Amino acid sequence: MKKRDLILACCLIAITVACGRESPPDMESVLSEPKTHVGSNTCKMCHLEHYDSWKMTQHSRMIQDARKNRDVIVTEISGEKIRRDLAKLEDTLKVPSDRIYVPGIDEILYTIGSQWKQRYIVQKEGTLYISPIQYNLETHRWVNYHEQDWDKRPWLLKCGGCHVTGVNLETQTFNEPGVACEACHGKGSWHAALPKTAVFEKRQTIVNPAKLPVGVAQQICGSCHNRGKSLKKKGAGWAVGYEPGKALEAYYQSTSYAGGDKKHLYSNEFSKGHHQQQIDWSQSPHAREGVTCTSCHYVHQLGVPPTRSQTQAAGSAQCTQCHEMVNRNGAHSIHSFANCVGCHMPRIAKSAEIGDIRSHTFVALLPRETIADKTIPNSCTSCHKHKDVDLNKLQAAYDLLTQRPKPMGKAMAPVDVD
Ligand code: HEC
Ligand code: HEC
Ligand code: HEC
Ligand code: HEC
Ligand code: HEC
Ligand code: HEC
Ligand code: HEC
Ligand code: HEC
Repeated sequence: MKKRDLILACCLIAITVACGRESPPDMESVLSEPKTHVGSNTCKMCHLEHYDSWKMTQHSRMIQDARKNRDVIVTEISGEKIRRDLAKLEDTLKVPSDRIYVPGIDEILYTIGSQWKQRYIVQKEGTLYISPIQYNLETHRWVNYHEQDWDKRPWLLKCGGCHVTGVNLETQTFNEPGVACEACHGKGSWHAALPKTAVFEKRQTIVNPAKLPVGVAQQICGSCHNRGKSLKKKGAGWAVGYEPGKALEAYYQSTSYAGGDKKHLYSNEFSKGHHQQQIDWSQSPHAREGVTCTSCHYVHQLGVPPTRSQTQAAGSAQCTQCHEMVNRNGAHSIHSFANCVGCHMPRIAKSAEIGDIRSHTFVALLPRETIADKTIPNSCTSCHKHKDVDLNKLQAAYDLLTQRPKPMGKAMAPVDVD
């Protein structure tokens, strides 16, 4: 090749390369803007699979706009049926059943929940409140909820941060209903603004829980699956100011029985209330060994079949994935089946009705726990629940059946060592 042709060829290559490449991202101008929430519809443009797989989960459905779609209300709003159900609870009510405020269907702005129970958000003098009625899905009945002080408990302050994304208490607004992308991945405006090809800059500007230290990633789930108080804002029930990737302790203090919360915890500090999985889990051997929420639960249903409660495998298969070799002695020898979850995660906590959701300490509670302290339930009577079940007899049967066999064979003769 002649020297002139070579120079020409080099120029052509250089021009092609220069034109084919996007200009490098102007990081400075992107990063000079304040970081804000952009909403899941923006994320969807580039992450359709993750968007779809999040839509399959309850997180996306937590708060739903009832004005856009009436069908999100899971039952009929019939004043008559509601008051009939409330009247059955008359003795426990703080306001007589016929005077409790019951919203009309047109007053309902948003629904809260759709699995165990549903509550309804209404507006009064410009502020959003939770109306004092609750529908329990599994028992198909209405119950009361703060009938005496419902209009003194602003929803955004009490509950907002755990149920919607991008709450601003100053302006009394939120960016998106439901537990959306940015609740777990952090504010996404910088990440979304950068061009697709700026892969490394993109990675730096969004939280990927899988790349965080395990303990820090766990606190993302722990920021909501928890009960306690905000350390930054008086009266708030959620971690005001917390962002994924931060240390939760600076923002939130969990409740405890020792600290006086007898309503939501048993005296052994096991959960009685719901949204307390983090409190249970942190007492468990799993917490010590780094078995976290996402070891058992998926949040994007990708490559796994749907299961109840988003577990990676259904029922006890969830446990035997790791605990392949469980000894068949002791407690594990009584039954002809091995319902790990039945004993190690008894339904002793309450979302809508007592005992509808599970303990997350993974400790199997024996009858003797209840014998020693009547207020503590046990794992066994969730199945052995005949009216006349005698706990002492059940414990005695357990003690008998779980006795380990005496060692067999001949005693060894003592050995003379000198
Ligand atoms: C304009 C397209 C685009 C938009 C909009 C977008 N992303 Fe991304 N995202 C990307 C690209 C490209 C990557 C880098 C892919 C790779 O790592 O190979 C990425 C990576 C990620 C990662 C992995 C980061 C890592 O360190 O591995 C997460 C998590 C993520 N995006 C979440 C989001 C969320 C949440 C939103 C909405 C707030 C969003 N993305 C909006 C294009 C986009
Ligand atoms: C409840 C928390 C949560 C929500 C809500 C959530 N994610 Fe994720 N996401 C995670 C976790 C945790 C991971 C890490 C991998 C895993 O466990 O699935 C992840 C992984 C990802 C990844 C893959 C990163 C990689 O390693 O390549 C992308 C992309 C992503 N999420 C985007 C989204 C988008 C888009 C939305 C909303 C439509 C969303 N996420 C909603 C928790 C969440
Ligand atoms: C912003 C608050 C928030 C964060 C962060 C959050 N969750 Fe949730 N989670 C909720 C709420 C609220 C519900 C109840 C949704 C409903 O029933 O409509 C829920 C429900 C669930 C459920 C039950 C789903 C079902 O089908 O019953 C699982 C499992 C779960 N979350 C796991 C996780 C894991 C794992 C993480 C962390 C990666 C996480 N969550 C992060 C608020 C949150
Ligand atoms: C610290 C976070 C947090 C706060 C504060 C909070 N919740 Fe929740 N809530 C959750 C989580 C997590 C779940 C799902 C897990 C569970 O119930 O154990 C949930 C579940 C629910 C459900 C049941 C959802 C279903 O599908 O059955 C309702 C209803 C609900 N919350 C209403 C409220 C109301 C009303 C408030 C305020 C008075 C509130 N919550 C405060 C985190 C919170
Ligand atoms: C060792 C496995 C394991 C770990 C770790 C774990 N879970 Fe679960 N979780 C389960 C199983 C199993 C169920 C019950 C599934 C069923 O009923 O089919 C469940 C149920 C749930 C439910 C539905 C309500 C109920 O109790 O029935 C929520 C919400 C939940 N888990 C959240 C969490 C959160 C948040 C974490 C972390 C703090 C966590 N889980 C850690 C295995 C686990
Ligand atoms: C991701 C792996 C993993 C999964 C899934 C898992 N475990 Fe574990 N589990 C561990 C590890 C690791 C330990 C701590 C080491 C040990 O003691 O065996 C542990 C410890 C335990 C312990 C305490 C053992 C002791 O010696 O005190 C119990 C009980 C237990 N797991 C029950 C369960 C149950 C029930 C399930 C299903 C709901 C389950 N595990 C699911 C990994 C797992
Ligand atoms: C009848 C209730 C019951 C069932 C069903 C049950 N466990 Fe247990 N498990 C217990 C009790 C009680 C203990 C502690 C006393 C003992 O070791 O006998 C225990 C101990 C354990 C331990 C720690 C000690 C050890 O033996 O390694 C692990 C791990 C464990 N169980 C896992 C499982 C798994 C996995 C399953 C399902 C295959 C299961 N359990 C089914 C009641 C039960
Ligand atoms: C998931 C439901 C379930 C749980 C939880 C459960 N059991 Fe059972 N139990 C059964 C059933 C069903 C039988 C009879 C059939 C069988 O043994 O498989 C039974 C049988 C027994 C028997 C009689 C066994 C025999 O050989 O005569 C004893 C004793 C017993 N259970 C004790 C307990 C104790 C103690 C616990 C708590 C640690 C417990 N069970 C937890 C369902 C359960």
